[in-house]
Amino acid sequence: MRHAVLLGGKRMRPLLVYAAGAATGAGEYALDAPAVAVELVHAYSLVHDDLPSMDDDALRRGQPTVHVAFDEATAVLAGDALQALAFAVLAEAALDASVRVALLRTLADAAGARGMCGGQALDLAATGRGGAIALADLERLHALKTGALIRAAVRMGALCGTPTTATLAALDRYAAALGLAFQVRDDLLDIEADSATLGKTAGKDVAQAKATFPALLGADAARARLRALVDDGEQALDAVDGDTAPLRALLRLAVERTS
Ligand code: IPE
Ligand code: IPE
Ligand code: MG
Ligand code: MG
Ligand code: MG
Repeated sequence: MRHAVLLGGKRMRPLLVYAAGAATGAGEYALDAPAVAVELVHAYSLVHDDLPSMDDDALRRGQPTVHVAFDEATAVLAGDALQALAFAVLAEAALDASVRVALLRTLADAAGARGMCGGQALDLAATGRGGAIALADLERLHALKTGALIRAAVRMGALCGTPTTATLAALDRYAAALGLAFQVRDDLLDIEADSATLGKTAGKDVAQAKATFPALLGADAARARLRALVDDGEQALDAVDGDTAPLRALLRLAVERTS
């Protein structure tokens, strides 16, 4: 579990929790529990994503993956336990009970069958078919496997403050754009970057004929789509009254990142 969580990573989802909290006036310390919880679920999702039965990857965050460093059973169990720990951290958070329940519900929905796990199932079902997928189906796959947890991070941060319904909706539109952009950038990096920079095996998506934006549309159209998503995310933030500078910075980071 320590190997999966403590050896690096960009911490994008916790940063989104803090940035969304900043936009809705949340107390900084209120945000620690949801920031930790979403990163624990993310780390678990990576441990399982790398398993031989899924993407079969040997390198993650510049280190051997958990099932390589230990063994497969340990990787399955460490992932399971990280997920359980995430919900324990939220359950014990020093927040009002109604906020805690809302956070638990948000993270559970995002992690489960209608979120990340559902998206991973769609990803595996499409693997081997490359770009032979409808654009709407690929967008749904990405929205679930990656977007759901990113949207949950933004919503959890916002719920720790005092958002209006309109602010929650605007932040969700921002998060949906960022979530899709984040995965399109991930797909582009798989073909553009090298393994040493990425800290994970480059070129895996082509080798496994994964359903990706570059496979379906080509790299140039995928890059154009990224720019459109940034515009949409920034426009969504125009409707938010609070401090949106951190959210804007993270949107740029999501599409300009090199790992
Ligand atoms: C990788 O996520 C998996 C995707 C959902 C694209 P990150 O790119 O956030 O991985 P870390 O946490 O920085 O290692
Ligand atoms: C992973 O997508 C999404 C998860 C829910 C973990 P990828 O399979 O593209 O992530 P990487 O490229 O292995 O990090
Ligand atoms: Mg995968
Ligand atoms: Mg993978
Ligand atoms: Mg990838």
